[in-house]
Amino acid sequence: MTLPYGELAARYGTPLYVYDADSMRQTYLRLARAMAGFAEVYYSIKANPNPEVARVFVELGAGLEVASGGEFDAARAAGCAPSRILFAGPGKGADELEHTIRAGAGEIHLESFEEIEHVARIGRAAGRRVPVAIRINPSAAALGGAMRMGGKPAPFGFDEEILETVLSAVDSHDALDLAGIHLFAGTQILDAAVLLNQWRHAMEIAGRLGRPLRTIDLGGGLGIPYFAGEAALDLEALQRGLSSLGRHGARVIIEPGRYLTAEAGVYLMAVRAVKRSRGTRFIVTDGGMHHHLAASGNLGQVIKRDYPIVSTRLDAGPCSPAVVAGPLCTPLDTLGRQTMLPEVREGDLLAVLKSGAYGLTASPTGFLSHPTPAEVLVSGGRDRLIRARGATSAGADERYGTRWDSLSGTGIR
Ligand SMILES: Cc1ncc(COP(=O)(O)O)c(C=O)c1O
Repeated sequence: MTLPYGELAARYGTPLYVYDADSMRQTYLRLARAMAGFAEVYYSIKANPNPEVARVFVELGAGLEVASGGEFDAARAAGCAPSRILFAGPGKGADELEHTIRAGAGEIHLESFEEIEHVARIGRAAGRRVPVAIRINPSAAALGGAMRMGGKPAPFGFDEEILETVLSAVDSHDALDLAGIHLFAGTQILDAAVLLNQWRHAMEIAGRLGRPLRTIDLGGGLGIPYFAGEAALDLEALQRGLSSLGRHGARVIIEPGRYLTAEAGVYLMAVRAVKRSRGTRFIVTDGGMHHHLAASGNLGQVIKRDYPIVSTRLDAGPCSPAVVAGPLCTPLDTLGRQTMLPEVREGDLLAVLKSGAYGLTASPTGFLSHPTPAEVLVSGGRDRLIRARGATSAGADERYGTRWDSLSGTGIR
């Protein structure tokens, strides 16, 4: 995406997240077209929970998948009907369950026996049957993805091997209305065959259950190419493979996060200093891992590889390698290790590309008490502040207008 970064930085200051709504729309519609007749595309809000980002997808008809009471509130703030919100996550609090069930969440995805009891109790007290799905940790047959969340011991969902026991537990409660199943085996998958294999496995489980299901949620995990040598997910190959999967008469859902937002976001930083240390060029910026942990390689990456970082100068000369370091007093705060950049000086802008997913939301904003960055959404050529710069992370719980202190016992302040 090409946006007027200089103007935006001048208007809103740096560091700054900039998201391109038009690019998100195009990506969503392309994916929705590829899935047409097979699955509905929800948006997993954890990738970027800014309500104005989520609103882009809600306005195109997407439902949302959330992983906390706070994300549920962000989804509501984005204009999503409660019935279009799925709530999954391995350790849902009783208060979060109460909050989301009473608000009419579309489905609660059960991930422990404790949750089964809590949801049933809340449903009984509210005098209604709660639509639920069983989240299944698939067997090794469904492996794949950079960060695997299935096929091995995991806190997510119930092991496929104990499904019968889980079904009996769910069936023992009249207040639980079993709508479906949910599988999610890994994130950042670039190989269509791996995704199809996982989805096929989910369909086989659905078939084995021997009862009608209303929904089959295949999770997210669709990857984007970040690094040299990676190729984009082949949507056409994915689409070609769908016809052989079947749907067991259910509504099939996929809930990608990264795929829908990553490439539509940029993290803009200003250069604060350029120095040489023992022959290495260091470019020190005002942005760093406190706002963008993933770009520093510290968000679960096994091998640290550099996100694409570019200079926004149009008149930039030849490039040479540089280390791009943030302002924190730790060597972990390195965003580029071998980044090819032109000569830059104090005040120049650098843009970390592919930063629309797992950026601010997945970063330790409290570390070293720098202000949280502003977020701007550009749509149809117009830019709009969608989150103001914060004083420190202490203001974090005001971000979505969530008043957690009104929910007793959450332990969240
Ligand atoms: C249940 C669930 N759904 C969807 C997602 C989104 O994954 P991705 O961003 O890889 O599409 C995640 C990510 O952790 C998840 O846990």
